[in-house]
Amino acid sequence: MADPTALTDPASPLHVAIVMDGNGRWAKRRGMPRVFGHQAGLEATRRIVAAAHGQGIGWLTLYAFSTENWNRPASEVAELMSLPGRFFETDIGRLHREGVRVRVLGSREGLTPKLCGLIEDAEARTRGNTGLNLSIAFNYGGQADIVAAARAFAEAVAAGRAAPAQLDEAMFSHLLATRDLPPPDVIIRPSGEQRLSNFLLWEAAYAEFVFQDVLWPDYDADHLKAALQIFATRDRRYGALAPEDVLAAS
Ligand code: IPE
Ligand code: IPE
Ligand code: MG
Repeated sequence: MADPTALTDPASPLHVAIVMDGNGRWAKRRGMPRVFGHQAGLEATRRIVAAAHGQGIGWLTLYAFSTENWNRPASEVAELMSLPGRFFETDIGRLHREGVRVRVLGSREGLTPKLCGLIEDAEARTRGNTGLNLSIAFNYGGQADIVAAARAFAEAVAAGRAAPAQLDEAMFSHLLATRDLPPPDVIIRPSGEQRLSNFLLWEAAYAEFVFQDVLWPDYDADHLKAALQIFATRDRRYGALAPEDVLAAS
């Protein structure tokens, strides 16, 4: 059995994952088109990446576009598709100077060659950085990622490169898009919704969840701080006992 606590030593930097939700409702409340909310959401993303520095966060993973978001109207999909390119074009120089390492999780299928190029450049340019690990989940779906991992292992077995009995949790984790990331310590979802919407299904096994009643374009450093304070009150047991209960039981 894999040890789920292996990467969650209290001294190690936190992995915070956020479902950036509520852009459409934010715009609607203002009588504006949904794309206006996505543009405001990009500003919140910039704020929160900046705020992550100095809050003990070593890993920040942001859900930006799900495999199901293709089901939205073409004009909205086009706007959402343009956001990471805009973000990288304007921000990558500064992120690089700040030591941020950028990764993009998700399928490249359906993305324009230009966007794929910007993603590759951002990843390659920041590969050697040792500051904040920023991952953008874009065209990402937890189920699709699990299926891709299962398929990769099945192909390895069919080709005689692996045996079914070799597969365990640790090996399976290494077949996922998140193979280089520790599991998330806390998954934050603003906007009032209380669901994962296909985000980090496997990786969330022992994550704490914090739901906040604020729409993503309004999300700021104080909201992040409040979420981390809630997280700090949680008692993580990983199926075992809290140290004081182990002593009491012996
Ligand atoms: C988050 O905001 C952005 C994406 C899902 C891509 P939404 O667009 O989902 O906003 P709401 O949930 O409709 O308010
Ligand atoms: C999840 O939000 C996806 C992202 C934030 C990128 P959605 O708005 O798509 O999720 P549902 O439809 O409310 O479950
Ligand atoms: Mg939404």
